Amino acid sequence: MPLIAPSLLSADFLNLSRDCEMLNESQADWYHLDVMDGRFVPNISFGLPVIEKLRKATHKTFDVHLMILEPEKYAEAFKKAGADILTVHYEACVHLHRNIQQIKSLGMKAGVAINPHPPVAVLEDILHEIDLVCLMSVNPGFGGQKFIHHTLAKIRTLRKMIDASGSKVLIEIDGGVTLENAPEIVAAGADVLVAGNTVFSASDPKAVISKLKTF
Ligand code: DX5
Ligand code: ZN
Repeated sequence: MPLIAPSLLSADFLNLSRDCEMLNESQADWYHLDVMDGRFVPNISFGLPVIEKLRKATHKTFDVHLMILEPEKYAEAFKKAGADILTVHYEACVHLHRNIQQIKSLGMKAGVAINPHPPVAVLEDILHEIDLVCLMSVNPGFGGQKFIHHTLAKIRTLRKMIDASGSKVLIEIDGGVTLENAPEIVAAGADVLVAGNTVFSASDPKAVISKLKTF
């Protein structure tokens, strides 16, 4: 059974507390919080003050996906704002190993996100240091994009790498997850499904979350 992490990027920002209530009553496991800086990705979303406020609305795990350059400058601030898992991008970190150590020393779980183009093999020597790999199944920056089919092959390769290493790293799939493609994503070896548009554009978001959990 996969963990479900709805992405608040597709929530109704005018009614965030209502959407939080919905998520709290739902079977959602995590809140997936997408932070964009307009530099690493061509979009700007929300940041620390919003996450700090959201923290008061739920006890669920905060899975913070940083799509920003120089994430080391902000790791401590995201911890203070309430992040439980802090994910940085492989492509944004010159000293990825150091960034991971910093995140763990601050008491958070550490994730690495990887864009659609690099092979998952580049993560081989960092796998034993991290808790989560966020495989981007769209180019980061926007919700509601189409799932890149080749991600399925990357999931299978990464699953084999993780199983062979004996580590417990979770595979999270981020972008374009739908009720239609979720079964094959889970069958390929995913542990966590991020879903923005699929959850928040549904007429019954709680039912969609429950359904995603059955795959
Ligand atoms: C994209 C973000 C995703 C996005 C997913 O840059 O990292 O988390 O919100 O949204 P959907 O599920 O709509 O593709
Ligand atoms: Zn994300």
